[in-house]
Amino acid sequence: MTHQAPPRPAASHRSAGLSGRIRVPGDKSISHRSFMFGGLASGETRIAGLLQGEDVMRTGEAMKAMGAVIRREGDEWIIRGTGNGALVEPAAPLDFGNAGTGSRLTMGLVGAYDMETVFIGDASLSKRPMGRVLDPLRQMGVQVVNAAKGDRMPITLRGPKATAPIVYRVPMASAQVKSAVLLAGLNTPGVTTVVEPVMTRDHTEKMLRGFGAELDIETDHEGVRHIRLQGQGRLTGRTIVVPGDPSSAAFPLVAALVVPGSDIVIENVLMNPTRTGLIATLLEMGASIEFLNGCDAGGEDVADLHVRHSELRGVTVPADRAPSMIDEYPILAVAAALAEGETLMQGLDELRVKESDRLAAVARGLEANGVDCTEGKDFLAVRGRPGGKGLGGGPDGQGARKGIVATHLDHRIAMAFLVMGLAAEKPVTVDDANMIATSFPEFMGLMRGLGAEIG
Ligand code: S3P
Repeated sequence: MTHQAPPRPAASHRSAGLSGRIRVPGDKSISHRSFMFGGLASGETRIAGLLQGEDVMRTGEAMKAMGAVIRREGDEWIIRGTGNGALVEPAAPLDFGNAGTGSRLTMGLVGAYDMETVFIGDASLSKRPMGRVLDPLRQMGVQVVNAAKGDRMPITLRGPKATAPIVYRVPMASAQVKSAVLLAGLNTPGVTTVVEPVMTRDHTEKMLRGFGAELDIETDHEGVRHIRLQGQGRLTGRTIVVPGDPSSAAFPLVAALVVPGSDIVIENVLMNPTRTGLIATLLEMGASIEFLNGCDAGGEDVADLHVRHSELRGVTVPADRAPSMIDEYPILAVAAALAEGETLMQGLDELRVKESDRLAAVARGLEANGVDCTEGKDFLAVRGRPGGKGLGGGPDGQGARKGIVATHLDHRIAMAFLVMGLAAEKPVTVDDANMIATSFPEFMGLMRGLGAEIG
């Protein structure tokens, strides 16, 4: 099992206006895929702007264990891949730590190899359902040799001599499931088809095409996507520039909106429409966000975001927006806690199976800090207090421990509540800030550089 550092609590305090220009680290989804596809493709892949968070580094280690050669030269990562179909059996279990994306996509990738691979992870990852990926892999002929109860890690996979191509309709809105099936299709003879009723982030499709995969996408009259991948084609190394992660930018972005007097610029943020649901929602809430220097960077739209403190109003966020902001609900809940009126977030069932049960973790964290909210099976309603009056869990009232947020090994719960403390009347404390390093190791330093009282 993976080593777990002792919990490191952190707190944030009401801050004066934030100001400055920052860059957030590279997009996590694109960074994972850069290591994976670069490690698989023939020849050399060079990556600039890679997120050097713990999750992504685990994916790099896994690719190395299967034959890829990865080295760092200054700010660039250089990979010599094995060639499609030529991964080798790892000598030891692949330890994915906290990383759902790395582990689920790699299960697809290696499931189609005639070899045995063992997957392990930390306490959070070991609780997450893997059946959503194992089910289609079983249909392709992959043997699940071992799995803990409910298709959870540790998991051992053994691929058949030749996997069978399938047509798979993804039963939940999940880019990870879509991607796992497509990656299994890379080493499968014939055409593997994924049918995606609700569009999710499309980085796998875009990037595989960039590496030379034959991939055809058709959207039918009902808006359902049919993604067809020709298996066993050649993938060729390339140069990748990873744009800033909108899911990380979300934290300083909301911080600037809720802390009076703030005026910041976040540079070079990925603006792929499958990732911008939070920005759309915040604009509806009355946020002042200006888009500057918009351009195309390696096939993805990027822009600088100029963000100023704003009086936010509650809105209803429709269920069909969830896939484009699935990782942003914890920080949206914090914006909602500081907005006028009620914000209703619908269609949140997938939040139950993230790094924590995020719907419950957010609701408990809000309550611990005096926010009036209602948690439903798949919705959250938050009634805000503009100005943060009475919010936070400071060292008064019912004792110093009253407001401590339980993060359940979830980086986004930790960051969201630390942002809340910058605008709440009393400080906000989280029980463990260690996991922030999985996706945004620079978080504390960048926030302090903007003037946030956090640490
Ligand atoms: C991701 C997909 C999403 C998201 C995760 C990254 C990806 O998960 O929550 O952080 O890179 O494919 P689901 O596919 O489970 O929604």
